Amino acid sequence: MEYRFKIKRYNPETDKKPHWEEYKIDASPTDRLLDGLNEIKWYRDGALTYRRSCAHGICGSDAMMINGHNQLACKIVMQDAQKQAGKNQPITVEPLRGFPIVKDLVVDMEGFFAKYRAVKPYLINHEPAPERERIQSIADREKYDDTTKCILCAACTTSCPTFWADREYIGPAAIVQAHRFIYDSRDQGIDERLNILGETGGVYKCRTIYNCVEACPRGIDVTRAINEVRQALLFH
Ligand code: SF4
Ligand code: F3S
Ligand code: FES
Repeated sequence: MEYRFKIKRYNPETDKKPHWEEYKIDASPTDRLLDGLNEIKWYRDGALTYRRSCAHGICGSDAMMINGHNQLACKIVMQDAQKQAGKNQPITVEPLRGFPIVKDLVVDMEGFFAKYRAVKPYLINHEPAPERERIQSIADREKYDDTTKCILCAACTTSCPTFWADREYIGPAAIVQAHRFIYDSRDQGIDERLNILGETGGVYKCRTIYNCVEACPRGIDVTRAINEVRQALLFH
């Protein structure tokens, strides 16, 4: 089948501002949108720039705005992307919003990862490591099962209007990562993390807009995680 792509292009070295370019490709309805981008890059226009790695929804590197929604290019198949775009309409592809564009669909993620690092996304435990392992009950493991699925794709943070309007906001992805450790019974860094998340750019900036939940390709209940971090701030 023939599919039409409309891709936002921008090369800061040569372009004054971003512009759209259109491509027609033949693809199977069950090919992934990432296959379509590869077809364009490998056989039509080698300058088209985007990130990808695993092609199986695991690495989080190919989050982009497809038909106006943040999605992973390797998770959506052509027929669904066409359905989203509407009959006879081109499938639109743009970079994630809210970060500086490096080139075409590649954005500068440094600010995103700085906020991720700020919540200390690693186990903090000051006691000597036991001979075998730090035991945890099944019930305790359940408490952070949802947030441990995060692949740091940034689809949630870059779909959040509060984040667009206020760069001080740490954003839902960093809160999800903090939740993963705050609710881990083996961790002892809760005070350090809650100090950061209780500050002006922390969890209280969230206005419960819910775009983050819709955008998450891992189906994480992001707003529930944000609320549970708020509860930890109130009751810990
Ligand atoms: Fe991506 Fe979901 Fe993690 Fe946000 S919470 S970074 S959308 S996987
Ligand atoms: Fe933003 Fe999600 Fe809160 S979209 S305002 S982080 S509920
Ligand atoms: Fe790894 Fe899509 S390429 S998540």
